[in-house]
Amino acid sequence: MKVAVLGAAGGIGQALSLLLKTQLPAGSELSLYDIAPVTPGVAVDLSHIPTQVAIKGFAGEDPSPALEGADIVLISAGVARKPGMDRSDLFNINAGIVKNLIEKVAVTCPKACIGIITNPVNTTVPIAAEVLKNAGVYDPAKLFGVTTLDVIRSETFIAEAKGLNPADINLNVIGGHSGVTILPLLSQLDGISFTDEEIAAMTTRIQNAGTEVVEAKAGGGSATLSMGQAAARFCLSLVKAAQGEDVIECAYVDGGSEHAKFFAQPVRLGPQGVAEILPYGEISAFEKGAIDGMLDTLHGDIDKGVEFV
Ligand code: NAD
Ligand code: LMR
Repeated sequence: MKVAVLGAAGGIGQALSLLLKTQLPAGSELSLYDIAPVTPGVAVDLSHIPTQVAIKGFAGEDPSPALEGADIVLISAGVARKPGMDRSDLFNINAGIVKNLIEKVAVTCPKACIGIITNPVNTTVPIAAEVLKNAGVYDPAKLFGVTTLDVIRSETFIAEAKGLNPADINLNVIGGHSGVTILPLLSQLDGISFTDEEIAAMTTRIQNAGTEVVEAKAGGGSATLSMGQAAARFCLSLVKAAQGEDVIECAYVDGGSEHAKFFAQPVRLGPQGVAEILPYGEISAFEKGAIDGMLDTLHGDIDKGVEFV
């Protein structure tokens, strides 16, 4: 399979490309693109790692050469938050970047699965959908907002709090990818109990985890290394699914939700992207209230993306 990373010279892009160079199956191809002139050099650097993953880097204004023949396109191109900003403050710059890149994807590799990392994800994914629709190539089964970072953070924080191995924690994180729209379904964790206070505190920590990193980096950007790991996990799940494995990941997708046109939920992946959108199951009264509380924000974020295009 060929994976293209757009924004590959950035903090996420480089970490993600490193993980994919070392973890994609033998015979895969990795194609790195960024407007930064260093990008071919990043590819040369990674090419010295002894794996059977071919790698090439492209810079300049046109991503098309990097996209030719891509089966999976991961987009982390754009600007990141600084302290005091919300993800929605990135809209003015990132909306146009995602729109332009998706226009090229629509022409060059319209059948690729697309994973959008660039924030605000709640809005950039609807932007991508509208662009693909306008080009007549939209397949909702192939467009994903990557929310895996919310899942791996939840696994980490819950394991820490309960003295468990994070590898043993499996949970759904639903909704969207910003503040109150991030909802970890803590009530569904088998054999792990929380007091009401613990649930409220853990939910808030997971919702604010991006801000925790932004503040800790003090103006130096947002999560890059944990996001690289999250995006690599999501990409490798798409690859495994394409090879016939049964894989379930939560992602922000179009369709299947009673709550909003785009909603993060558990998805069974298959060779063509989304094989099945799964129900998220029984939830607690606290979680029902949290869904009600997020919907104005989520609908507003989605409408903003549609209107932009
Ligand atoms: P970064 O500034 O380190 O890297 C961004 C890269 O994008 C840079 O190398 C830049 O040259 C490149 N770029 C800018 N415009 C481009 C264009 N038109 N075409 C190609 N490349 C372009 O930022 P980062 O830390 O890697 O974050 C990237 C994005 O990912 C941000 O929007 C951030 O908010 C988002 N993010 C999302 C999640 C998530 O969970 N989905 C997590 C962390 C960060
Ligand atoms: C995150 O959750 O870390 C990312 O969305 C980046 C951010 O701005 O918080």
